[in-house]
Amino acid sequence: MPTGSGRCEMNELYRAYRQSFALLSSAEGLSFLQLVAPLLAQAELRALQGYRHHKHTNRLHHVIRVAYLSYVLAKKKGYDEVTAARGALLHDLFYYDDEQGDKPAHAYRTHPRMALKNAERLLPLSDAERDIILHHMWPLTAGAPQTKEGRLVCLADKYCSLLERVHIRQRKTLSDTHQMKGQINDRDRETEADTKLFDHCAH
Ligand SMILES: [Fe+2]
Ligand SMILES: [Fe+2]
Repeated sequence: MPTGSGRCEMNELYRAYRQSFALLSSAEGLSFLQLVAPLLAQAELRALQGYRHHKHTNRLHHVIRVAYLSYVLAKKKGYDEVTAARGALLHDLFYYDDEQGDKPAHAYRTHPRMALKNAERLLPLSDAERDIILHHMWPLTAGAPQTKEGRLVCLADKYCSLLERVHIRQRKTLSDTHQMKGQINDRDRETEADTKLFDHCAH
């Protein structure tokens, strides 16, 4: 069991993870959206919506969650929250479906370089943002993140990846059960939430 500050950090991570599903309903969620709105307005970012990620979610939802967790924790620790949020939003900027045949060999190892190339094509990056993108898969890839923000995003990414595989699968199973009873399902809710989120970012 984590103790002291370790437990505090786990609680904080979990709170931020849960909040990331309803960004429009908290002051912190709204200030995060205001910060990342110019990036979320980019078609290259929104296109991530069309790619499955960690089996039960899509890549856009994943990068938004990782960016929000990184933003909340960076603020709390006095790190650069703008760099953490921007780097995290771009950390998986690549376009193949996790569940289909177009997934390249050794994708877990090669996608950070792919994401960096795509992000550099999209906008100028700082050294710290490059570090976040390139080293987020450590220790599965060589080279640990060199910055505090890079280490934070590396942790937030692993935390979200784990919960997405477990928690979202559970949510979807429950939703399918409700759907059989004629109730609204999670996929409808996600589409509705995305529309509201993008509308908010457009203003
Ligand atoms: Fe990744
Ligand atoms: Fe990721």
